[in-house]
Amino acid sequence: MPYYRVVGEIPRKRHVQFRRPDGGLYAEELMGEEGFSSDSSLLYHRHLPTAIVKAEAVAQTTGAQTTGAQTTGARLEPNLPLSPRHFRTQELGSAGDLVTGRIVLAGNGDVRLSYATTDQPSELYRNSMGDECVYVQSGRVRFESTYGAIDAREGDYVVVPTGTIHRWVPEGRVNALAIEAAGHIRPPRRYLSQYGQFLEHAPYSERDLRAPAEPLLAEGEEVPVLVRTRGGLTRLFYRNHPFDVVGWDGCLYPYAFNIEDFEPVVKKTHAPPPVHQTFEGPGFVVCSFCPRPLDFHPESVPIPYNHHNVDSDEFMFYVGGDYSARRGSGIDVGSVSLHPAGFTHGPQPGAVEAVIDAVSRGVTTTSEMAVMVDTFRPLDLGPGALACEDTDYAWTWAR
Ligand SMILES: [Fe+2]
Repeated sequence: MPYYRVVGEIPRKRHVQFRRPDGGLYAEELMGEEGFSSDSSLLYHRHLPTAIVKAEAVAQTTGAQTTGAQTTGARLEPNLPLSPRHFRTQELGSAGDLVTGRIVLAGNGDVRLSYATTDQPSELYRNSMGDECVYVQSGRVRFESTYGAIDAREGDYVVVPTGTIHRWVPEGRVNALAIEAAGHIRPPRRYLSQYGQFLEHAPYSERDLRAPAEPLLAEGEEVPVLVRTRGGLTRLFYRNHPFDVVGWDGCLYPYAFNIEDFEPVVKKTHAPPPVHQTFEGPGFVVCSFCPRPLDFHPESVPIPYNHHNVDSDEFMFYVGGDYSARRGSGIDVGSVSLHPAGFTHGPQPGAVEAVIDAVSRGVTTTSEMAVMVDTFRPLDLGPGALACEDTDYAWTWAR
């Protein structure tokens, strides 16, 4: 995160004695990225954050239907024969909570993209492989962590830094897309000043980011935390509840950003997806396609031209409104399209003519809303994708 935040009680200087009301010392913990060389925060615990009493390996299994299998072990298949794909996440049922119930749609060595639908709270979880960005497609869910809580709602991207102990507590049914990186997810560098402040041309700013506002304290003994590392899954049991932080400060913390707060950039003729970029991670970008005025050149074609991004696979999750370019393809809210490198994609037949006609009848805006993840290495297909694929999609341009 680019800016400094302080929550709860902290001492005036870092690394000095900071005492509890009973005279004992709070335990200071640094959470820092890139080996003391990037963003960090200092957290003050009531108990030692090192005190574990037990460690259990958690078995990994594979397959789309097995509860818990998706957290690490889902087997991925190459996109062969190469083709554009359409997955209907609406057809996927619940496989568990927002952590163990992630049904893998696609992934590669840089990022894994999973869908989850649930009304169940997760156990405490720490992903030590990378940052996560969980997009809440629908419903409300409380994100609880050592940094405090965030009340997340439809349209929120919740960015969870590597190693954050947290859990998800839905209020009713929640549908979400989990973007799991093998590194850190950040606002695009070009949106920030050299010191990390959002620049005026950025499509969002610090005011749009919501982070924990107060400490979250809980009691408990021998508290299990599911930990994910490259080696697999472990359940560590902490002597005391990890939610024991009375205060923290720094530039590293979880936050939420709502897609409604994205400020779309519009051009006179059609603007390419980099104007919609929201986050970047190692080997991928995340873009938000939001309702906006249509391109306003009198002869504009206000939907995408055919394009072949030779270095990218394009994973598009349709989350709201009407996506004009995919008209007649069967794609609807809840659908995912995957347009891989090696295939030129573009509007469905008749879509260009239809939008030009709509403009001639006075339509000036698009209601489309979509979350796009463009990866720079090919995406393999997960068991969730293969379980809900519309196998006719590839041929819809030739109809
Ligand atoms: Fe595209």
